[in-house]
Amino acid sequence: MTDIDNLTVEEALTELKRISKEMAKADIAYYQNDDPYLTDAEYDALKRRNELIEAKFPELKIADGPSKRIGAAVKSEFGKVEHKIPMLSLGDIFSESELLDFTSSVNRFLGNETDNQITYSAEPKIDGLSFSARYEHGKFVKGATRGDGKTGEDITENLKVIKDLPLTLSASDVPDVLEVRGEVYMSKADFLELNAKCEAEHKKVFANPRNAAAGSLRQLDANITKERKLSLFVYTWGDVSDIVWKSQSEFLQKVRDWGFKTNPYNRICHTSTDLMNYFNYLQEERADLPYDIDGIVYKVDDLALQNRLGFLTRTPRWAIAHKFPAEQAFTKINNIRIQVGRTGALTPVADLEPINVGGVIVSHATLHNEDEIKRKDIRIGDTVVIQRAGDVIPQIVRVLTEKRPADSQEFIFPHTCPMCGAHAIREEDEAVRRCTGGLTCPAQAIERLKHFVSREAFDIEGLGAKIMEEFYNEGIIKTPVDIFTLEKRNRRLRDDLFAAIDDGSIYLESREGWGKKSVENLFNAINNRRKISLPRFIYALGIRQVGTATSLLIAKHFSSFNAFEQDMLKSDTAKLLEIDGIGEAMVKDIVEFFAEEHNQRIIQKLLEQVNVEDFVDTADYSSDLAGKTIVFTGTLEQMTRAEAKAKALSMGAKVAGSVSKNTDYVVMGADAGSKATKAQELGVTILSEAEFLNMCQ
Ligand code: IVH
Repeated sequence: MTDIDNLTVEEALTELKRISKEMAKADIAYYQNDDPYLTDAEYDALKRRNELIEAKFPELKIADGPSKRIGAAVKSEFGKVEHKIPMLSLGDIFSESELLDFTSSVNRFLGNETDNQITYSAEPKIDGLSFSARYEHGKFVKGATRGDGKTGEDITENLKVIKDLPLTLSASDVPDVLEVRGEVYMSKADFLELNAKCEAEHKKVFANPRNAAAGSLRQLDANITKERKLSLFVYTWGDVSDIVWKSQSEFLQKVRDWGFKTNPYNRICHTSTDLMNYFNYLQEERADLPYDIDGIVYKVDDLALQNRLGFLTRTPRWAIAHKFPAEQAFTKINNIRIQVGRTGALTPVADLEPINVGGVIVSHATLHNEDEIKRKDIRIGDTVVIQRAGDVIPQIVRVLTEKRPADSQEFIFPHTCPMCGAHAIREEDEAVRRCTGGLTCPAQAIERLKHFVSREAFDIEGLGAKIMEEFYNEGIIKTPVDIFTLEKRNRRLRDDLFAAIDDGSIYLESREGWGKKSVENLFNAINNRRKISLPRFIYALGIRQVGTATSLLIAKHFSSFNAFEQDMLKSDTAKLLEIDGIGEAMVKDIVEFFAEEHNQRIIQKLLEQVNVEDFVDTADYSSDLAGKTIVFTGTLEQMTRAEAKAKALSMGAKVAGSVSKNTDYVVMGADAGSKATKAQELGVTILSEAEFLNMCQ
């Protein structure tokens, strides 16, 4: 790209037009279709180049150029809402020196001699989408997106179903007209859960929590919004009949008092050093926060000073957004591999040249499915931009086609299973191609076995992934039943040397790396699981879509395996469909599982080996913890997380993964992180491990 200093006027004009077009296209993809194709860093770079060219050639500014535009015009399906006070955006900075420029220009503008006379409100920049909520006489009457800043989309019904938004304000000092503004977001945990669900239902997955939030909020049917878990923070205001606060921090306090959520990390700072320290601190915390943030917003706190500072064209002079460097990197795709999962799904995985992305070494990225490879035209040998958003699995953002080797070839997705050679087919409307080999496919069989012995299923220690693969490949364990007959078969081999010589098998004690003790431990581990709870047994079967939560629901509803199995063998789904949380698609998978003769045979043989306990809901609903919601955080000393959870459930309590206003207790172990902080901010009772155990007595 030509250096800006060397641009001629003509070139500058062409370049400004190009950037304007590109950004308009990117804006529509991002704001209207919730499906961006540029990364944030690429978009910021374009914006910056535009600003620099405009600064050098002010006469060339395009009337409707990117510097005058915010967001994108509203989608036509939604009603329109005119913003009485425009919803503006903020200028961006990316470095400490730019931060110093900002604080010194604020001071200069106000005629201050030194840097330390100003109070700033420093706030995490939530990576969601902005909203405005209007209250008249304490009643929520209208909700809107930002749209182009002047006109937004009417999302009143959608905002109503977000639990963080109060619908009535009862405090006596609420102004007659009050518009609060802030950010709607989806937590990382809720995003992962939603994507897992989309994947299970063969729907398109969202690229990141922001897109998921946008896609969930801008639904014409608010019922869909309601199903998705959205949250929000308030950070500013629009039209207000009587501004009863004198500073940003007073505003934040007021809205908190009125029942709105504000970010617990908002801080007051006084100097640029303070601001920089806060920026560095949050950059470290970033990965542990339950939601994505993409920088810090610094605002001059005092409203009188804000008024004196006023606005530039479209951004305030009294505030700026300091962006975190993007957690992105360039690397090369060494290979594209196809993994075959438990249910036969063929998942493409890219093996990458290992690379450090925001402190984590990344060497693989999922490519989701064949359409995704086609859409992004990803090929072996390509140089790609990869991105890690919070805890989320690394993704390939796009291919740098200009770096593509001349002899590169389009990736052909196999139509046969790479593990067993069976046909791999795609059902209509499905994104996934599946191997039709069933259990004759070694990959599926091994994955099913691994699932069967996994922690939440039979939990057999000593049968890890590697050993399971070895045992399968050597014919020692081919089905779950073989696990329970292994001891007997091994004894026969050991005691009857001739039998061993006959078919070449060796008994386990003589395997390399195994001894008497380890074999004994393995058989103990297996025998300890001959008695198994009903939910674990159902989960262990590995029925498509039936996870631990569903297994528990089924167990509670049927109480015995026999009752459940009898209905399934008759394909009688009435009782199953009564369960809240189990839908038609899942029922279909369950019935199909039982209809398969092989599965029936294995189940019958398994039942000869193991004893599935009937499900008795033994929770003590009269305990002090009954009905309470508990969150565990940090490392516990006297029990594992799983034990603690089981204990809480047995007391009739509910266990949640993140702290919210609905949390009753946070049980804090060693090295507790952001959840403990959040609990303090929300005033949730914090218990030590000992206090919790006491309450369980
Ligand atoms: S203040 C006039 N505060 O960042 C100032 N914005 O370009 C209005 N954002 O559109 C915005 N967290 O969507 C403000 N604590 C925060 C924010 C925040 C996220 C978003 C917002 C805005 C964009 C700035």
